Amino acid sequence: MTPSKRIHIITFGCQMNEHDSQRIFQLLYPAYEPTDNPADADLILLNTCSIREKAENKVYSMAGRFRKLKEQKKDLILGIGGCVAQQEGERLLQKLPYVDLVFGPQTLYNLPSLLQEAEKGHRVCRTELRQDFHIPTLTTHTPNAHPFQRFITIMQGCDNFCSYCVVPYVRGREISRPMEDILAEVKEAVRQGVKEVTLLGQNVNSYGKKEGRSNFAQLLRAVADCGVERLRFMTSHPKDLTEELMRCFVEIHCLCEHLHLPVQSGSTRILKAMNRRYTREEYIGKVHRLRELCPEISLTTDLIVGFPSETEEDFQETLSLLQEVQYEQLFVFNYSPRPFTTAARLPHQLPLELKTARLTQIVEMQHEISRKRHERLLGKTVEVLVDGVSSKDISEMAGRTRGNHVVNFKTADDLTGQTINITITEAFCHSLRGELQIKG
Ligand code: SAH
Ligand code: SF4
Ligand code: F3S
Repeated sequence: MTPSKRIHIITFGCQMNEHDSQRIFQLLYPAYEPTDNPADADLILLNTCSIREKAENKVYSMAGRFRKLKEQKKDLILGIGGCVAQQEGERLLQKLPYVDLVFGPQTLYNLPSLLQEAEKGHRVCRTELRQDFHIPTLTTHTPNAHPFQRFITIMQGCDNFCSYCVVPYVRGREISRPMEDILAEVKEAVRQGVKEVTLLGQNVNSYGKKEGRSNFAQLLRAVADCGVERLRFMTSHPKDLTEELMRCFVEIHCLCEHLHLPVQSGSTRILKAMNRRYTREEYIGKVHRLRELCPEISLTTDLIVGFPSETEEDFQETLSLLQEVQYEQLFVFNYSPRPFTTAARLPHQLPLELKTARLTQIVEMQHEISRKRHERLLGKTVEVLVDGVSSKDISEMAGRTRGNHVVNFKTADDLTGQTINITITEAFCHSLRGELQIKG
């Protein structure tokens, strides 16, 4: 038997990309075994992200770093996939003469045949996006698969065309997978011992809308029936957050009480310019209704500061929305002009210093809010799924609550993968600390 070759993937960007990398491992296994060491690899792939300017620059410098390795190892294949590859296509082969292969988020499924071409010495670029694309069902268990957590794609692409965002251009139009394909992957994951499933898509709550089949709430119920211990999903668009979906947080026991609901701005004027299709009031109204139904839900969000023409008043409205909603955590980004997008062509682009000053103000304000939100959990006993040794202190272990809070705690035993009860004793702005409850 010929020994397997080795593959190393470096992944940038969102969970969709993380998951795509996992699918590449599945597609190529066992012909290619995963390795953590690029110097050992026969195939190195960069799975790239194009959401903001810096992400793109990282790809170029990272590719440059592998140039030497490529010179030393004649048979090494270097490929670039993901959203920058989709955006740049052939240009990447022209700019980077040591790159062998360029592929996009859809054509990654052709990798076995594309690699054969590359192995023959051809330089290959395949980046077409098709509307009739069918996301394959893959259940191969690779050695580097997470033992108890799994991402499962339920839809791909985006039809929303927020005016700042490159995703619809690099991931194509929304395509929802048939429910039976998703359930087949969920059932196999549960059989392999997976406890926590996260359903993935750019806009999961518009699942099935276009195809006119089952909607997202129906899908959640069907997935819950497969025996998943914890169920999560990412990402939701506020305009598609329905009453039926909100009720799922109460009615489906395994559905964790956490919702990532990107608001982007607190100013209705800016939201309109962003083409988000909801107002500040509509967004806040949905948050109130959700908290009425499920008071313990934890909410997180994404924000963009310095969108073209954002005034001090618009920015103040974002700050006041943060005070009103009280998120557990948030991610805030400086607006970055992206290719193909309409916002990149708008007048009144803001200077970097102003964007950065606004970003810093938000981060500081949120620190306080996060700490206060976390303090509400002091003295409470919460269910934690243990991820492993804490990244901050190797004498502690870390896990996540159903509300997605990180909890560190001391224990003499390795409890990785177990669901345990912890009483919260300390609250910080990014995490909690607690004491393990011995099961009685
Ligand atoms: N589909 C998801 C998120 C996609 S990208 C959604 O709609 O919520 C993740 C985040 O990146 C976005 O929520 C937004 O806050 C940020 N983002 C997207 N394009 C950006 C840009 N051009 N500049 C700065 N941040 C951006
Ligand atoms: Fe981008 Fe908007 Fe689609 Fe999210 S919903 S991926 S921000 S276009
Ligand atoms: Fe980036 Fe593409 Fe995801 S642009 S954020 S990797 S969809």
